[in-house]
Amino acid sequence: FSVKLLISGIYSLFLTINLILMVSEKIAKLINEQIAHEQYAAQYYLSMSAWFSGKDLDGIANYFRVQSKEELMHADKMFDYLNDVGGEIIIGEIAKPPHEFENATDIFEKALAHEKIVTKSIFNIVKNANEEGDFATTSFLQWFINEQVEEEASASQYVTKIKMVCDNPSALYLFDQELSQRVFTPDATA
Ligand code: FEO
Repeated sequence: FSVKLLISGIYSLFLTINLILMVSEKIAKLINEQIAHEQYAAQYYLSMSAWFSGKDLDGIANYFRVQSKEELMHADKMFDYLNDVGGEIIIGEIAKPPHEFENATDIFEKALAHEKIVTKSIFNIVKNANEEGDFATTSFLQWFINEQVEEEASASQYVTKIKMVCDNPSALYLFDQELSQRVFTPDATA
């Protein structure tokens, strides 16, 4: 058994590992953290949904329930991607979300603030992936960048709307009706 053979064996093993692992440990760690962020967001929105259910505003509760399901779908997409690129999936700890809120406006403002945090966090993964020349991850995250633009826009719109209607029961009733129409649509590419 020659040293030459051993070295060539180690080298081919190295090549094989490199072929399987398309993602660095650093990017895998960031994606794992993002999975936990998305799962936390799901819990956070579910808690917001519960608050509205408790106030018999079932339409707004439905809106946040659907939002919660979307967040779980985001986490699933990342889970599948990390698996596809050979990264190790490590499920993180999810903190307990707040369950007490000042009022309806407070909730919509917190939802918008949370989306802004999520956007920053996704941008950070893209920045790191760019630095590594990890085009697979930047391409994958493009969907999330577009999604965040939409989510921030709609969250911001609802902050404006809730401020307009929160002190007017008839207007609040109509707003609740509007949000009852939201339906969860699983992503076809997920
Ligand atoms: Fe998954 Fe609302 O961002």
